[in-house]
Amino acid sequence: MTQVPRHIKRHDGVISRADRERLLGQRGAVVWFTGLSGSGKSTLARALEERLTGTGRLVYVLDGDNIRHGLCADLDFSAAGRTENIRRIGHVAALFTDAGVLVLTAFISPYRSDRAQVRQLVGDDFVEVHVDADLSVCESRDPKGLYKKARAGEIPEFTGISSPYEAPEAPDLRVDTGRQTLAESVAAVEQLLAQRGLLSVSPKQ
Ligand code: ADX
Repeated sequence: MTQVPRHIKRHDGVISRADRERLLGQRGAVVWFTGLSGSGKSTLARALEERLTGTGRLVYVLDGDNIRHGLCADLDFSAAGRTENIRRIGHVAALFTDAGVLVLTAFISPYRSDRAQVRQLVGDDFVEVHVDADLSVCESRDPKGLYKKARAGEIPEFTGISSPYEAPEAPDLRVDTGRQTLAESVAAVEQLLAQRGLLSVSPKQ
């Protein structure tokens, strides 16, 4: 990464994050879903988005398949490409959090160190959820037919097949979408957010 020139300084406006959170009546936070392709990250994020929007919150989903069409269209699936993907998303998620928005992210994000960097950037308002379905379950779902192609050698560096997935050692929450229903998983994440005070209507102190 290139160095930021010294003449570029950070500066804040008069309006603070707390002002924005007060305006919205909610807390900014990041719920970071990580897991294999086909584990159910997007499905879970979309269902939680619907649930929390229904309770009057401003929620925004950042999703791998969408972001890779725009912001990260120049990146491949090499280790370096994935690290840069997650670095950019981490900064976008941190900006959304500062805007007072509840951000839900759905990226494989296979590397522990990349996820740790995002946690460090976002701070307390970061919740890591491991969407933990066995590879065999993800492969049998194969919603986009990608596992079949990866097994046939048509997609190189495919996560779980020919590229690693480093499962979180201590996620804030683990949901097993092979054994739990979608409603159960959504409820578990919502409960965790409530416990952490992230569904509070008052701004962060
Ligand atoms: S990440 O590893 O950099 O976090 P990201 O979540 O953005 O990945 O994108 C994953 C999606 O890209 C998968 O759900 C799948 O649809 C698609 N994809 C295409 N090629 C690959 C690959 N080699 N490995 C994993 N996913 C891939």
